[in-house]
Amino acid sequence: MNISVIGCGYLGAVHAACMAEIGHTVVGVDVDEEKVGLLSAGQAPFHEPDFEELLARNVDAGRLRFTTDFAEVADSQVHFIGVGTPEAADGSADMTYMTSAVQSLLPHLGKAERPSIVVGKSTVPVGTADSIEDAVVEAGGILIWNPEFLRESFAVQDTLRPDRLVYGVSKDEERAQVSQDILDEVYANIIGAGVVRLVMDFPTAELVKVSANSFLATKISFINAMAEICDATGADVTKLAEAIGMDDRIGKKFLRAGIGYGGGCLPKDTRAFQARTEQLGLHSLDFLTAINEINDRRRNHAAELAIEALGGDVAGKKIAILGAAFKPNSDDMRNSPALDIAKKLADAGATVVVTDPAAGPVLQRKRPEITVAADAHDAINNSEVTLLLTEWDVFKNLDPTTLAPANKIIIDGRNALDPQVWKDAGWDYYGMGRS
Ligand code: UGA
Repeated sequence: MNISVIGCGYLGAVHAACMAEIGHTVVGVDVDEEKVGLLSAGQAPFHEPDFEELLARNVDAGRLRFTTDFAEVADSQVHFIGVGTPEAADGSADMTYMTSAVQSLLPHLGKAERPSIVVGKSTVPVGTADSIEDAVVEAGGILIWNPEFLRESFAVQDTLRPDRLVYGVSKDEERAQVSQDILDEVYANIIGAGVVRLVMDFPTAELVKVSANSFLATKISFINAMAEICDATGADVTKLAEAIGMDDRIGKKFLRAGIGYGGGCLPKDTRAFQARTEQLGLHSLDFLTAINEINDRRRNHAAELAIEALGGDVAGKKIAILGAAFKPNSDDMRNSPALDIAKKLADAGATVVVTDPAAGPVLQRKRPEITVAADAHDAINNSEVTLLLTEWDVFKNLDPTTLAPANKIIIDGRNALDPQVWKDAGWDYYGMGRS
């Protein structure tokens, strides 16, 4: 099948490569010439496990190409829209890229032999699909909403074998059926492997996405609130999480207390969802304010712990920060808790040195004001305090006896280390809710 993917960021580029991998002929469209150039050469513009091989293989096989020219989508029967919906100043979703993608696509619809479908994948405020549908239909297409649940650092796996597929379909029964049949054909390989497909209306599909992310954020802030209580009472949040997580109704995942969530999705989506419900006159999501406040407090807490560990004054002191990406196996630094904490310490006068296996080189290129060390040993050398803020394996596996800091103080912002190993090596260990 001929497929176009509009928007080649994280979501779109991975989706395009995965669609080619399952046998489709795919064109990815993006306004960013540099990105299109890299992708066309089979080079990943971001660090994502397994992605570059997949990309290069499909570009080489001639099944996948990238362009800045919208006219090249005309042959496609299926158009995925995966543009970003960043956070606007008031917390709502900025729909500029979405509106522009739809406008650019409309003149090219209705030209394929069979009906063409427009598949919304971007995370949008509830009501968006309803507001776009008429224009798509008038242009000769059919709209279907198919939210994306991929996690960065597992993006390929999550796209090829998602937990579920969600289809939001039109109220018009015929359009609903035709769009569903075509999307089933696109995903035949995935559905054939047993992935469940859930069909619902447009608003429900839109809400599934933002409610899932809000639930995940809530789960993380819940365990971080428990961490605060554990710190005050001498309890251990890692044991608490293990024990409550064994109850199937609660589940073990996303109960890792630490410096909280960051990235391009959870912080933005919770705020946009709340802003949208307020526009609808609802206060149902007021609690998300508290969820985000808990999250912000974790970052302050980690920075304050470092300052306290140095007697309240960090001016001119070398602080080693292990991690810059918002999570391991990624070089994405959007709303990164690690970078935020590094900035708080730099603002307090510390000489901050950051290291990160994938985000480090990007940081060095894009933020020359930040000192980036080649590796953890280099960063920790002569440092007065060390903070582990992104739990890369290379940091988790560090042997504390081989490090040469000025002070053996480690703040484990992700509860990723074995405290006993570090204490045995003579370090003062501070965890999050487990001190
Ligand atoms: C998130 C969702 O997990 C995906 O399902 C969704 O598709 C995606 O957003 C999106 O909307 O596109 P992602 O942003 O890649 O995926 O990252 P997560 O794995 O959710 O992690 C988010 C943050 O939470 C990270 O900073 C991570 O370190 C933190 N986290 C996660 C915790 O602090 N504790 C945990 O127990 C789990």
